[in-house]
Amino acid sequence: MKKQFISFIALGILISPAVLSQSIVGAGKAVDPYHYTSIKTATFSKVAVASAHPLASLAGAAMMKQGGNAFDAAITTQLVLAVVYPGAGNIGGGGFLVARKKDGENISIDFRETAPAHAGRDMYLDKNGNAQTDLSQNGRLAVGVPGSVAGLFATLPYAKLPFKQLIQPAIDIAEKGFVITAREAAGLNATREAFLKNSSAPSAFVKVTPWKAGDTLIQKDLAETLKRIRDKGQSGFYEGKTAELIVEEMKKGHGIITMEDLKNYKVKFRKALVFPYKKYSIIGMPPPSSGGIIVWQMMKMIEHKPIASYGFQSAKSVQLMVETERRAFADRAEHMGDPDFWKVPLQTLTSDSYIQSRMADYDSTKATPSKYVQAGKIKESEETTHISIIDSDGNMVTITTTLNGGYGSRTVVAGAGFLLNNEMDDFSIKPGVPNMYGAIGGEANAIQPGKRMLSSMTPTLVLDKNKQPLMVCGTPGGTTIPTSVYQTLVNVLEFNMSATDAVNKPKFHHQWLPDVVYVEPGFPKNIRDQLQQMGYSFIERPAIGRTEVIKILKDGKRETAADSRGDDSVAGF
Ligand code: GLY
Repeated sequence: MKKQFISFIALGILISPAVLSQSIVGAGKAVDPYHYTSIKTATFSKVAVASAHPLASLAGAAMMKQGGNAFDAAITTQLVLAVVYPGAGNIGGGGFLVARKKDGENISIDFRETAPAHAGRDMYLDKNGNAQTDLSQNGRLAVGVPGSVAGLFATLPYAKLPFKQLIQPAIDIAEKGFVITAREAAGLNATREAFLKNSSAPSAFVKVTPWKAGDTLIQKDLAETLKRIRDKGQSGFYEGKTAELIVEEMKKGHGIITMEDLKNYKVKFRKALVFPYKKYSIIGMPPPSSGGIIVWQMMKMIEHKPIASYGFQSAKSVQLMVETERRAFADRAEHMGDPDFWKVPLQTLTSDSYIQSRMADYDSTKATPSKYVQAGKIKESEETTHISIIDSDGNMVTITTTLNGGYGSRTVVAGAGFLLNNEMDDFSIKPGVPNMYGAIGGEANAIQPGKRMLSSMTPTLVLDKNKQPLMVCGTPGGTTIPTSVYQTLVNVLEFNMSATDAVNKPKFHHQWLPDVVYVEPGFPKNIRDQLQQMGYSFIERPAIGRTEVIKILKDGKRETAADSRGDDSVAGF
């Protein structure tokens, strides 16, 4: 085993030293797309990457081995994810990056999709005013103008290596293929008919016989698209052949994205949210993601309660956290949207007095039914994916990116080989009508041309009392994103857990409406029974989040954990 690896555990498969030395960032060695495995946790001395796929984490770490920093790794990891994890990794979607440079500068890049110029608030209503969620969730009309490629180029000035070098692993893997996991095979098989229905031509994702683990997925069209991006930069996507192929695909199925929409797409640099929690500083994403505000509110609602003494997943601590989740999500539905189109009352929503007033009716002995919890009065996928990175200088990058649902709109751009998002469903397509995550919204998140749809993505960083790196964290999971990040933070900061435990302990989730607590199967039954007595209803769901966490230990080492709920994997040295 390489000396740098202090410890590692591979779930399911015992990794032999030979495989480790071959595949973990072997200096200058190529990532091997035909032989890889998930490493769920490891402690690295210098750099660490955790992402949804082993090849993406390895490729990102390899860039740091070649002299790049965390931003170089972020670009490569995202691009490789777009090849090896088509369900959520993407160039046809959008997302958010939060970073803290070694010099203390915080960066937040909003590369969220936008509504096309021809979009309108009632575009998904039929003539009787009924919401047609099939149209906001499937096919070309569901697609928002993608932001991911612009996000990569907005990140590039912080990186050290040439873009050509950063994108090459993705091109190679798309062109030569990689072996798929059992989970990917199942996803592609389950989505086969939807790909055929929503795309104008069969794609690399569709084959005659069912996919199985170990099959090789080759994506020649995607490789050509990536080469255009390599050679022409951002305009290799937003103009010219790639843009023409997107618009052609739109025309074949009632899509409304035009060449102008693509050319006009711009990222936004936002001011990262920073708030103190006890001795720590927490850095998060501002709107149009709701995640940063929600986490801020929930953390502050528990700050003055002795939650550590209640115990991890005791009835008392879960009940308190559920009530904070309920209240924060009520505010999400009413007050949060794209700040360029809606005045989000950020200052009030994050003020201590307002947050404490939200808990005034909190009763530690029983549930507060959601019908009695409205948004505060203020005057003024399920398939997303997350990457956490730290480099040897202490630059931290946390990125959540998405197509929205699994494989997005299921529309593959003919001739260009990539999937388009179905992010339009994250708008409130009709007040009170739940989106695919059951979240409701209103005017703040109504559709307008050029507007960004409200998100739950919550890329988050934590600094210790000396303002030094402590955690890099984030997860996919639609509306469960902020609550998963919240629980992960509480697990580490209050219950003193390792990154691995914090990620893998069973989770729960409440989002105001529906008024129910979702729990993972491992959630303790006796606690559930006690909470039922207090008036809570439960629904079990298979998995909540796929969280990637790096925890910086007292000796500076990076304890890195990839979620055991997926193919997620860590890499580093
Ligand atoms: N598409 C999921 C989110 O942005 O929250």
